[in-house]
Amino acid sequence: MENWLEIDRKHVWHPYNSLPSKTKILPVKRTEKTYIYLEDDTKLIDGMSSWWSAIHGYNHPKLNEALKKQVEIMPHIMFGGIAHETAAKLTKLLVQITGLNSVFLCDSGSVSVEVAMKTAILYQKAKNKEKYKFLALENSYHGDTLGAMSVCDQKNSMHSLYGEYLPKHIFSKTPNIGFDADYSEAIKDLEEKLEKYHEQIAGFMVEPVVQGAGGMRVYNPSFLKEAKKLCEKYDILFIADEIATGFGHTGKMFACEHADIKPDIMTIGKGLTGGYMTMAAMISSKEVSDVISNSEIGVLMHGPTFMGNPLACSVAIASIETLLENNWQKRVNEIEDIFTEELKSAKNLKLVNSIRNIGAIGVIELNDSNYAQKIQDYCVSKGVWIRPFGKLIYSIVAYTISDDDLKTIIKTMIEAIKSCEELT
Ligand SMILES: Cc1ncc(COP(=O)(O)O)c(C=O)c1O
Repeated sequence: MENWLEIDRKHVWHPYNSLPSKTKILPVKRTEKTYIYLEDDTKLIDGMSSWWSAIHGYNHPKLNEALKKQVEIMPHIMFGGIAHETAAKLTKLLVQITGLNSVFLCDSGSVSVEVAMKTAILYQKAKNKEKYKFLALENSYHGDTLGAMSVCDQKNSMHSLYGEYLPKHIFSKTPNIGFDADYSEAIKDLEEKLEKYHEQIAGFMVEPVVQGAGGMRVYNPSFLKEAKKLCEKYDILFIADEIATGFGHTGKMFACEHADIKPDIMTIGKGLTGGYMTMAAMISSKEVSDVISNSEIGVLMHGPTFMGNPLACSVAIASIETLLENNWQKRVNEIEDIFTEELKSAKNLKLVNSIRNIGAIGVIELNDSNYAQKIQDYCVSKGVWIRPFGKLIYSIVAYTISDDDLKTIIKTMIEAIKSCEELT
């Protein structure tokens, strides 16, 4: 057979890339715990946890075991008109940890966002309201499918590429960066937008506490508390996109808990299966599912082929149980302390604009977006995997990472920035 990398180069699309890729693609042979091994046996410490998903690291014995067991019993079965115990067990766990009621299991984060949008529209319709717009924040990111893209920040997600195809929604100002920062302007703008457009708006879609791919922006949870009250006032569903923040990333199981609020709808994904399989969920209050189910509409019109896949359900159960059994919150707090301490020395570097961190997330924002590739190359040459984007050099780690490896990741990111400074 042709060298597999050559096949990849000629035929495989990689995310956000050209074909063949214009940027370097690393050939990975295997993973173990919080390490990635390349084809030539180079060992990299994983500073990305596979885009926020591998919260327990890779090849975890309990998760591996769950999959092996399930594959012998039933790898897949359609979910239309059929129930299975694995999905019920997972659903029960999700109901327990979210405090919500009605779970729709689907394929990926973006699809769960689409389902959340459909649910919100149907909920309003069931109440005889024709509301087809969504309110979202500037700098938001909710996924790459067309509906999800339409509620992403218009510049970051390049709405312009798709011209008239994307529906037009309403965007309000994002809160200032900082867990304790002033958010008065953002809440004022939100209120004004709600006052003006509430008759058209089905739901407010928001990434609670941390806006991820739209800028790694940590903001004040009190903004969410006030936003929730405004949504109640105008009968607009509050949709918390916890796909990135969920399962402990911000130091709470779900970031909404920082604001002590319960959303009407929550979307989850990424860490749901501990990064093993593609699965996400749209979870709503009982009120939302009751209103739709008891109306003339009567049904939630969505049904993916791989809905409730038993393999994904089994590994998701193992992942949540592992989290709950392991005092994850104490570990995430320790990780947060290490980020806080180690990031300090980046603060006064010439190329650095600001630093911020929360839970298992640490971010260095540069003044300039020209260094991402150089910084990544430097880190890989020193045995650390990160994938910076634009001005953002960041790491999101598995909760099983050792203190020493975490410190190495942060120190290497900082050395990489210094090495770029020497070039200026
Ligand atoms: C907040 C948020 N919503 C939605 C998504 C889309 O999830 P997926 O990539 O699984 O479609 C992401 C992915 O990064 C995300 O961070």
